[in-house]
Amino acid sequence: MNLERRLLIEQGGAGHRGPELPGCDVPERPLAELLPGVRLRGPLRFPQVSEPEVVRHFIELSILNHHIDRGMYPLGSCTMKHNPKINDEIASLPGFALSHPLASDESSQGSLRVMFELQKVLAEITGFAAVTTQPSAGAQGEMTGLLMIRAWHRSRGEGERRTRVIVPDSAHGTNPASVHLLGWETVTIPSGEHATIDLQALERSLGDRVAAVMLTVPNTLGLFEPRILEVTRLAHAAGAQVYMDGANLNALVGLTRPGDLGFDVMHINLHKTFSTPHGGGGPGAGPVAVARHLEPFLPAPVIEERDGKLGLCHDRPRSVGRVHSFHGNFGILVRALAYILTLGPEGLSRMSCTAILNANYLMRRLAKSYELPHAEHCMHEFVLSGRGLRKYGVKTLDVAKRLLDFGVHAPTVYFPLIVEEALMIEPTETETLDRLDHFAEAMERIAEEARTAPEILRAAPLTTPSRRLDEGRAARELKLRWTAPSGAPDSAPLTRRS
Ligand SMILES: Cc1ncc(COP(=O)(O)O)c(C=O)c1O
Repeated sequence: MNLERRLLIEQGGAGHRGPELPGCDVPERPLAELLPGVRLRGPLRFPQVSEPEVVRHFIELSILNHHIDRGMYPLGSCTMKHNPKINDEIASLPGFALSHPLASDESSQGSLRVMFELQKVLAEITGFAAVTTQPSAGAQGEMTGLLMIRAWHRSRGEGERRTRVIVPDSAHGTNPASVHLLGWETVTIPSGEHATIDLQALERSLGDRVAAVMLTVPNTLGLFEPRILEVTRLAHAAGAQVYMDGANLNALVGLTRPGDLGFDVMHINLHKTFSTPHGGGGPGAGPVAVARHLEPFLPAPVIEERDGKLGLCHDRPRSVGRVHSFHGNFGILVRALAYILTLGPEGLSRMSCTAILNANYLMRRLAKSYELPHAEHCMHEFVLSGRGLRKYGVKTLDVAKRLLDFGVHAPTVYFPLIVEEALMIEPTETETLDRLDHFAEAMERIAEEARTAPEILRAAPLTTPSRRLDEGRAARELKLRWTAPSGAPDSAPLTRRS
């Protein structure tokens, strides 16, 4: 028998099954009748497993992985905060979970109300005129926002000419990627003093070919851009639009509103600021908020209220079109609205203030053990450099791996690119002082180990179910197809029991 960890399909055996369901009272129909022209290449090899086998398998998987319900997850820029379980409960209520996306407006008033209210409250929080909740991630929100900017330039006869987007070199990789998706060109400008925007470089790059300036606020070093008003003024004077990457909104809620700072459009990562789960790269939600002049270009359909009734309006001739099937990731929208309404205006601004306080507490403490390239007060996250550990033969990657031995997920490493050996730390507001101190002690111990026992760090993690993996090889020799190991248990096609 294979004593290694096994896939579900390698477990169980013929006849293993969970609770018996009563016999089916719907007449059986052959597959060929249900799916004419479709033929299976061979028998379906479904695993045959009992309930305890299934439960153990998934519990085992959850233990192998580090997740926010197991320990701290200070992944900078990703805002891995606690997701209140009550919000999952609310999203699972049958009225939400069983609602059908093709149901009529008449019978979907509750679901439409959730989306409509969420759009209104997000518009209020961000200071914009209107919001779409269709995009399913920050990156898709970026593309949607840029599509609206393009439609706006086209409506003014400038679409052909304005194809450049100015992006600072500290930006998240999705910013230039979104520009590229539109077939536009990214103009990268270097960061100025304190890694904030270099106004002279910006002015030199602006001109009548520039469609937009894309800015992350606070920037990816966790610093607030002090000259935003100047940036938005210069960009507008040159005929460009200003896009705010709002992935870091967790630092701003209730403190300032991007719409009031002169931005024209922004996306919001609901799955960060408003506590919905990231779900392993999705499903998330990346709503986009726009100023009044961009409203006609919002993805269609939009929800409208008439005489107290909500309905989907498809008659939007200037819309950039649909960017997601149906209504986006509806369950995530329910969770976000539940979170916002639970916290209320005061709770939301306390959320951002606590996130900022936690980050500054850790930053000041860890600056004694690690290099802190930018020493001004940070917002909700900060960036250290592991450069000083190089003399002991230790890299930032080793620090990240060793943290797992102390029950903490690694911070974001090697990003932003403008900081050597970067460690980008975002504790979030949901960690207690006790947990912050635990993290700080783990980081201090690692700095000490770098001096006294660097071989431990180079071998770490030592206590996790899987040790250090060869990530380069895993990427180069990707194995995505399962092949039956010899001696695997019987995985005959599922047979029906009468
Ligand atoms: C600053 C910034 N912009 C954009 C994104 C992209 O968001 P998403 O991962 O939801 O596509 C991220 C994600 O980490 C981010 O941190």
